Amino acid sequence: MKKLFTLLIVFIVAGIQSLRADEGMWLPALISQRIGDMQAKGLKLSAEDIYSINKASLKDAVVLFGSGCTGELVSAEGLLFTNHHCGYSYIQKHSSVEHDYLKDGFWAMNREQELANPGLTVSFLQYMEDVTDKVLVGYNTSMSERQRDSIVAVNSKKLTAKAMSEGKGLRANVEGLFYGNQYFLFVFKVFRDVRLVAAPPSSIGKFGGDTDNWMWPRHTGDFSIFRIYADKDNNPAEYSKDNVPYTPRKFFKISLKGVNEGDFTFVYGCPGSTKEYVTSDEVAYTAEVSDPTKIALRTKRLDIVKKYMNQSQAVRIQYSSKAASIANAWKKWQGEAKGIAKMKTVEAKKEFEARFKEWAKGNRYNGVLENLEKLYQERNPYFFAYENYSETIRVIELLQFASNIERNFKNQKAKEAYTEAFFKDYHQPIDEEIFVAMVNGFNKNVPDEFKPEYLKEKLAEYGSAEGWRDAVFKNTIFTDKEKVLKLTQKDEDIIKNDPAYQMYEHFYRWYYDNLRPTINRLNSEIRVAYRDYMQGQMDFEKGKDFYPDANLTLRVAYGHVKGYNPADAIYYKPVSTLKGIIEKDNPDIFDYNIPQKLRDIYAKGGRENQPVCFLATNHTTGGNSGSPVLDAYGNLVGINFDRVWEGTMSDIVYDPEVCRNISLDVRYILFNIEEIGGAGYLLKEMEFVD
Ligand code: ARG
Ligand code: ASP
Repeated sequence: MKKLFTLLIVFIVAGIQSLRADEGMWLPALISQRIGDMQAKGLKLSAEDIYSINKASLKDAVVLFGSGCTGELVSAEGLLFTNHHCGYSYIQKHSSVEHDYLKDGFWAMNREQELANPGLTVSFLQYMEDVTDKVLVGYNTSMSERQRDSIVAVNSKKLTAKAMSEGKGLRANVEGLFYGNQYFLFVFKVFRDVRLVAAPPSSIGKFGGDTDNWMWPRHTGDFSIFRIYADKDNNPAEYSKDNVPYTPRKFFKISLKGVNEGDFTFVYGCPGSTKEYVTSDEVAYTAEVSDPTKIALRTKRLDIVKKYMNQSQAVRIQYSSKAASIANAWKKWQGEAKGIAKMKTVEAKKEFEARFKEWAKGNRYNGVLENLEKLYQERNPYFFAYENYSETIRVIELLQFASNIERNFKNQKAKEAYTEAFFKDYHQPIDEEIFVAMVNGFNKNVPDEFKPEYLKEKLAEYGSAEGWRDAVFKNTIFTDKEKVLKLTQKDEDIIKNDPAYQMYEHFYRWYYDNLRPTINRLNSEIRVAYRDYMQGQMDFEKGKDFYPDANLTLRVAYGHVKGYNPADAIYYKPVSTLKGIIEKDNPDIFDYNIPQKLRDIYAKGGRENQPVCFLATNHTTGGNSGSPVLDAYGNLVGINFDRVWEGTMSDIVYDPEVCRNISLDVRYILFNIEEIGGAGYLLKEMEFVD
């Protein structure tokens, strides 16, 4: 009877566990702690299959691509998939008017045609190791934070130096997890000869552009293909024509079966940054102050940019990439603020904090939250002024340009290159309108006691932002390419007396002297306080499973394919198809103008159900772009590239109802390789499973 009772408890606990939301970004080295739950949800692999230092495991097929994306190996010959938006800048660098690979796509038809990318690296994790004790050798709690920092730095340096001496091409770093309650050593093998193999035309790889960004239904073929090269001993090497394709310890087999709603999936990649354990004050500041302020400022900016883009094809080309980067965060913040309000996260955290304070009365965490409250109260006005500055004055292109020239004018070559690049994509009427909108925005948002005197003087002198704009744009030399090109080393005075440079400099000085020191001091105090609060949360909620905030280290997230209900009476199915691309196709709208070839293929019939993208509940964030999305057996079913905007608050709080990652179905990649690129030969080196 007692046995039965225990068994029952076990079942109930396991039941609750597996009902838990698919939240979490787990450390692969500790995946044995999650493996039971993963298997209960459908995984057919062991912890050792996912991460092992003794045998080849899935981790050996995943790379940090560049410094902010993920990629995965798909052949024994170093072939790698990542996103189109991750490869974008490399594709762009190889593009010219004669070979516009962004517009037309690029398909190497043999190894000789693959293109080298100086500066691009891919990093394979060799191992990760808990080094908390080693990092804190020599530290005791009576020491100051300064002393602690320097001990951590010295010990970390020893550890990384030793790790890097153990092989060729190794890079090592020590990362603090849980706000420095834990330290892990990460050792990578870094490859430097990474060649571009293929990219679809942007009309496929960026299909839907900014209109569809963060949205479902989605039909973007967001992939590009690279190949890693090594020296004859399979070790990292600088680019050389004698290098040979890298033989990985492991590569992913590709599933041709596809996914259905409910299927188990997991994502193996490098999420960049999350803050799941912050206080209600931080969340309230983000969702109620920071996000709305920045959204409003960017709305103004985007309206101006779009107005001009709609009037001229040339301006559209000049500003499309700028508009994309303004719009990306702008849309993400909207989902974040809305999601936090809907989840009542501030209220929920307040309630939690009240219980925590009560509990902390008898222990060493007494006062931790009160201290954080005080620090935020002190910091936020300064931080708010800073955020307004960086979203207004700092975005005026003329000012940025003036300051860059000031920094580079002694280096003729750099100055020239920078000047050419600037004017190629500069449309002065946009900047003039933005100048007025941003000066007014800053003046309205920032309380008087924080404003620089300079701003008050100039507005008084010229009567309005418009008057000030006229004075700056009429008298600056930085709108005149020829004059800037003619500047020589002797012309320091011209630069320093220029009204655009002066404006940049006055604001920067104001920030540097009045905001920065206070923000930095309080931020580091906040960080220290979080170390205690984090440990406190772990002690307070003993039964809860904690995962460290994302910090671009390798993580595993798991969940399942699932649609969602974004608003009343709407249900989004989790799989999109080629039929949807044809429905969106519109030759008159740049973002929806698909290649004729794709129309022709479709017209022949039978391709309506070709899968394109799918949704799942995997907990991901920026940096997870390009991550392999794997089925229960560890076969590749997709590539992660985005989330739905209604769920972008998952960086702070995960809502199982609407947080969805968006993946490209791997079969749409194969379709493109074969039928759009005519590069079916690449499939010969891949392995497929049904
Ligand atoms: N939203 C995705 C991410 O945060 C994709 C961004 C690139 N695509 C775009 N249309 N801007 O990286
Ligand atoms: N689009 C993001 C990236 O590039 C992924 C995300 O934020 O979900 O990493």
